[in-house]
Amino acid sequence: MSEPMSESGASTPYALTARGLHKRFGGLTVADNIHLSLPAGARHALIGPNGAGKTTLVGLLTGLLRIDSGQIWLGSTDVTRLSPQARVKHGLVRTFQVNSLFPSLTVRQNVELALSEHAGTSRSMLRSIGSLTHLAERALATLAQVGLEHEAGRRVSELAYGPQRLLEIALALALEPRVLLLDEPAAGVASADAERMMSAIERLPCDIAILMIEHDMRIVRRFAQTVTVLVAGQVLATDTPEAIMTSEAVRRVYLGSGGQARYDHRS
Ligand SMILES: Nc1ncnc2c1ncn2[C@@H]1O[C@H](COP(=O)(O)OP(=O)(O)OP(=O)(O)O)[C@@H](O)[C@H]1O
Ligand SMILES: [Mg+2]
Repeated sequence: MSEPMSESGASTPYALTARGLHKRFGGLTVADNIHLSLPAGARHALIGPNGAGKTTLVGLLTGLLRIDSGQIWLGSTDVTRLSPQARVKHGLVRTFQVNSLFPSLTVRQNVELALSEHAGTSRSMLRSIGSLTHLAERALATLAQVGLEHEAGRRVSELAYGPQRLLEIALALALEPRVLLLDEPAAGVASADAERMMSAIERLPCDIAILMIEHDMRIVRRFAQTVTVLVAGQVLATDTPEAIMTSEAVRRVYLGSGGQARYDHRS
């Protein structure tokens, strides 16, 4: 298949393009001919009822799950057959999970580990004091991107859940993403910390394309330029937040599934 191109037909490809993704788990189709395109710097939300296949889609994009058919590009590079690690090298990064943090290390040390692993220089870097200073500076700069620099010296185990989830994002930033996938970053976070999380996400560099799974429509409306609604593994609609929130078809499907979405277009 030919290279993906931007809507203008110009030679600038999307940051991420997925075409015709299919995935079945036994008899259950969880991805059914999914098409998704994220321009550089996109702010794209993925919504849909529980079990729609949102997290599965992130797994398919990152390569942790194998697609049955379809193609995935990062820029103009076909990454369909690449390992998750190779896709990270091409700039496709999902957030680490809280349980992948090192709780007995400090916040800064966690970021330093991610930075040095990404640079592939762990051993040589740790031998050099000069490099260590540089590493610490980069770690602090990365933490500052999510507003965690004041917690740099604290042990991860002392942090509340909200700041731990911010640290997940800092670790992802250490991998220099061009496309960042966030799966419900504010889920389970206390409401005071949820605001901190959302403003940190809003401040992320505008050249990173972000795909965020989120149930809270107030957050979606605040964050997203484009929204894709996934239902039973199929894309029901991709449109602006306003068009999605006033769509009868979306409302019917989303509210009809138990109303777990905090969905009030008047709020
Ligand atoms: N490894 C797996 N093996 C079999 N079925 C799976 C597997 N992972 C997910 N599923 C099923 O695939 C469907 C999609 O799950 P997925 O976790 O992607 O949904 P989701 O949209 O992220 O839901 P939620 O909003 O609850 O997070 C569900 O029916 C789930 O039970
Ligand atoms: Mg999920």
